[in-house]
Amino acid sequence: MCGIIGYTGERSAGPLIMEALRRLEYRGYDSTGLALFDHGSSFFVARAAGKIDQLASRVEGRLPAAAAGIGHTRWATHGAATDANAHPHLDPSGRVAIVHNGIVENYEELRTALLARGRHFASDTDTEVLAHLIADALEAGRDLPAAVRDAVARTTGAYALVAIDRDEPGRLVAVRVGNAGGIVVGRGEREHFVASDLAALLPHTREVAFLEPGELADVRAAAASFCTLAGEPLDRPFEAQTLDPIAAVRGRYKHFMLKEIWEQPDGLLDAVRGRYLLAPAHVALEGFPFDAERVRQFTRVVLIGMGTSWHAAMVGRHYIERLARIPAEVDNAAEFGYRRAILDEHTLVISVSQSGETVDLLAAMEVARRAGCAQLTVCNTPGAQTTRVADGTIYMRMGPEIAVASTKCFTGAMVALHAIALHLGRARGTLDPAEAEAQVAGALHLPAAVGEALLLAPAIEQLAKRYAAYENFLFLGRGLSFPLALEGALKLKEVSYLHAEGYAAGEMKHGPIALIDERMPTVALAPSDELRDKMRSNIQQLKARRGRVVAIVSAGDASLSALADDMLTLPDTDQLLVPFVAAVVMQLLAYYVALERGCDVDQPRNLAKTVTVE
Ligand code: M6R
Repeated sequence: MCGIIGYTGERSAGPLIMEALRRLEYRGYDSTGLALFDHGSSFFVARAAGKIDQLASRVEGRLPAAAAGIGHTRWATHGAATDANAHPHLDPSGRVAIVHNGIVENYEELRTALLARGRHFASDTDTEVLAHLIADALEAGRDLPAAVRDAVARTTGAYALVAIDRDEPGRLVAVRVGNAGGIVVGRGEREHFVASDLAALLPHTREVAFLEPGELADVRAAAASFCTLAGEPLDRPFEAQTLDPIAAVRGRYKHFMLKEIWEQPDGLLDAVRGRYLLAPAHVALEGFPFDAERVRQFTRVVLIGMGTSWHAAMVGRHYIERLARIPAEVDNAAEFGYRRAILDEHTLVISVSQSGETVDLLAAMEVARRAGCAQLTVCNTPGAQTTRVADGTIYMRMGPEIAVASTKCFTGAMVALHAIALHLGRARGTLDPAEAEAQVAGALHLPAAVGEALLLAPAIEQLAKRYAAYENFLFLGRGLSFPLALEGALKLKEVSYLHAEGYAAGEMKHGPIALIDERMPTVALAPSDELRDKMRSNIQQLKARRGRVVAIVSAGDASLSALADDMLTLPDTDQLLVPFVAAVVMQLLAYYVALERGCDVDQPRNLAKTVTVE
């Protein structure tokens, strides 16, 4: 959730940290702050509640020349979004400054003990106790890495932090404790960086090393070394990343969300290029770790994810059952651990995540690891934690996704799952060659089909103007369109703060229909598949109760035109691939409704791009 940046080197740390904070703001935007060592007797510290512009106006013309510093953008957990609760936090003597992401679970107990010793706290955060504990250890004669390790040993919880000591200002110490929040160390020419994610480092270096849970990085301008939290040295080579820094820029688009929606044809082209092959139709999956023998031993597939990735996993379940004919189930990753699922080495667990850092997903993967399951992850972020835990990674190849509302990684995840299903089906001999051919051809046509769906943008913009004043929405779908109904509702509530519910259309009569009147419109996904006539009946039931209906239909289907109040026609695709073109419609609808309502599309209230706390 929170964004972290640290720098030590020959450049001026202040402007560099401010620029990095802008790149990290999508991780949390309740407050921002930085601490710089300016060769005086104390840190220069600036903090401001609100977005980075608040901090920028506060430090304008005041940033001292400093060769080291740390910065933070916050998603509040403990304590309101105020200046006092903004990071960095310092110990009372001002010797140690820290930035922190995650939760210190036993902070109340630690705080009570420190208060009993006459200590004062300047904030309501859990973070501040860590600054006290690290400073205490330094005063007792420990060096910074040892002091951080001592402090961490007294805490419970999962978090990442970076600490800097006034008495040794060119040194940064970063730790990763548990699965909440990643730490990446970047290496440059006589300079090093520490950040919560790669996006902050891309303009400066591609040479990076990731911390695993339970590891510490001791970073100076000239070198970085690594050890465990027990102090055992680690050999951690720096690796070159190939991510494109330009891609993380908004360019001519008004919002990252709009840019990312429009990037889908190109992203899907990258995703299918070299993977979907004809004559004979098959999928070549680099990163797929299991041989045919092992694949034949799988008795079950369990797909897990959160939010949009969970919805993509639901679509993936259909693909795996239909194309690979393996029993498949899908679980919300946060719930997965609670149901004591029956798992073994013949279970293939597929985790889906844009960031690869979602804490609930990592916890679920740990459950699977302990049960000896085979693990595959679908991820968009090179080197992310999920990719290091799973046996193999199928990358989405969609480029960096910056907007909090996930769009292109929804279609990116679906195409990766579709490819996995085809690969599994072929390896097990359960995939009919004619079906394989249709699916490969369909997938290769996706960039064009999604490009065509984007041409609906002007019509959807007009539709959004007519519907933006409604406060409640229902989204309905059946079969493959049910996850799309959930995703349509999620997108709308995230970016426009409207109440929207996604339901399996068959469920409507079992309760939700009580909500229907002329003030509650329904977006009904009714593509021309074997379920279309059932959807038509549902739409009739809605109209009989004065509900307004926006029907999403397939090309050439005019049968609902007399019934629906509004209609959007999807471009032609294979039936199994309709979710891709329907996704574009859901995304554009949410975007234009939010725009019409004047919402902050890229940084919706209360949200953060990557969820690293439970
Ligand atoms: O990075 P992940 O894909 O694991 O993130 C999962 C969810 O947090 C994410 O999809 C979230 O629901 C988005 N805000 C949806 O737009």
